Amino acid sequence: MSKVDYTSEPLVRVEDMSKFFQVGRHATLKAVNNVSFNIYKGETVGLVGESGCGKSTTGRCIVKLDPPTAGHVYYDGKDIYKMSSAEHHQFTADVQMIFQNPYASLNPRMTVKDIVGEGMRLHGKYSNAELDAKIEELLNRVGLGKDHMSRFSHEFSGGQRQRIGIARALSVDPKFIVCDEPISALDVSIQAQVINMLKNLQDELGLTYLFIAHDLSVVKYISDRVIVMYLGNIVEQAPAEELYANPLHPYTKALLSSIPVADPNIAKSRKRIPIKGEIPSPINPKERCQFADRCPYATEKCQKEVPQQKDFGNHHYASCHIL
Ligand SMILES: Nc1ncnc2c1ncn2[C@@H]1O[C@H](COP(=O)(O)OP(=O)(O)OP(=O)(O)O)[C@@H](O)[C@H]1O
Ligand code: SF4
Ligand SMILES: [Mg+2]
Repeated sequence: MSKVDYTSEPLVRVEDMSKFFQVGRHATLKAVNNVSFNIYKGETVGLVGESGCGKSTTGRCIVKLDPPTAGHVYYDGKDIYKMSSAEHHQFTADVQMIFQNPYASLNPRMTVKDIVGEGMRLHGKYSNAELDAKIEELLNRVGLGKDHMSRFSHEFSGGQRQRIGIARALSVDPKFIVCDEPISALDVSIQAQVINMLKNLQDELGLTYLFIAHDLSVVKYISDRVIVMYLGNIVEQAPAEELYANPLHPYTKALLSSIPVADPNIAKSRKRIPIKGEIPSPINPKERCQFADRCPYATEKCQKEVPQQKDFGNHHYASCHIL
């Protein structure tokens, strides 16, 4: 049984959202191009795609770090870019982001206590007397301790810094967290620890996650649903089990076929589908299927028409002319 209640009002609803950057007088970089998706309370949605496909930009638009060029983002039914100042204040506590690079995302001149306590102070959640105890509790939650409080972030390893970033995000009692490749900069040995910690925190605190990653193997373990992006577009979205068992889009199939499989019998039977060529430029992209130059099934139509998203039932959607 899926824990996702598709009949409920989504916690986050993204509608026809685009984010373009002007990169020259006649050049528009379409980082995110007309994407729509929902995130339901308590679930983890994995957002996957190659470098530069628009994952972080999508995350930044959703947490209100960067306004989209077009479209809407609703949180708890409210348009996040049309909130009153009181609603905005609450939003900045409810919605947090954990960043890709734990080395760049923590201020080196601040102590751990100040980093983790900053949001709590801003939101006036605790008195000064309560603050220390709350910071200590948060540090314990992420596997750090009281003796770390007066130290500076540069004194910590990558894994520890990411834990500090997680404690900072948790400090304001958030409901929804965008985790932007929280483990990709970490040693492989530490990656599983951090993922497990995020998973446990979700269960304990009833959190909802958008979990961004490069490849499908990372999000498999943690995601209830998965969204696959390619060059600013969503090409497929489905419940995780469904997507791994029955991928529909040629790009998803190719991504899945490149995941190493431990079982040699399965590995032998699985056909690897190489993706030919390089990712094309997102600057002034043509109106067509963006995967057309690399897709083994491309037809003339693919070079001329943008494929629309089709509903395949079971909350499974894909955008491809031949499906
Ligand atoms: N502020 C900006 N100005 C111009 N272009 C930008 C800006 N931010 C992002 N881009 C471009 O938008 C596209 C999407 O970038 P984004 O960071 O969202 O990709 P990503 O999927 O997160 O990649 P990665 O996996 O490498 O983190 C890229 O081509 C990037 O160069
Ligand atoms: S629309 Fe055409 S080019 Fe795009 S993925 Fe489908 S078959 Fe390939
Ligand atoms: Mg990114």
